[in-house]
Amino acid sequence: MSILQAEIVNLPKILDRRGNLTFIEGSNHIPFPIKRTYWIYDVPGGETRGGHAYKTLQEFIVALSGSFDVVLDDGNEKKVFHLNRSYYGLFVPAGVWRQMENFSTNSLSMILASDDYNELDYIRDYDEFIEFNR
Ligand code: TYD
Repeated sequence: MSILQAEIVNLPKILDRRGNLTFIEGSNHIPFPIKRTYWIYDVPGGETRGGHAYKTLQEFIVALSGSFDVVLDDGNEKKVFHLNRSYYGLFVPAGVWRQMENFSTNSLSMILASDDYNELDYIRDYDEFIEFNR
């Protein structure tokens, strides 16, 4: 799998002086049926999350609040996506090593996932990941 398939999706933005509104429609904005949603919050300064790949799981990551970096690595190439607006989402294909870092204070990341949580789908060892992608 290549990180070239990863992409930032520009979500709709309804500007309003009462406050802005953004929405996600599964069939329009997400390239997989959404099976699960989880979010990461209260991340202490300097902490990282992720540091693994999924064999089949696809994800879509939104910085609902604050900012953080998502570092994607397909074994050949590494790319850093800085998420700092709640109207951008990052599609992360399966088979890519991903790490989340540089969380700002009070950042809130929402992750839409293509399947239920399954530890057997994780690759947590980097050498195993390289072998898996060979
Ligand atoms: P993990 O996916 O390793 O977190 P991250 O990639 O953000 O560092 O998950 C951390 C723990 O939470 C792990 O014990 C599994 C559990 N977990 C669930 O039970 N359900 C979920 O949907 C997720 C994402 C994690």
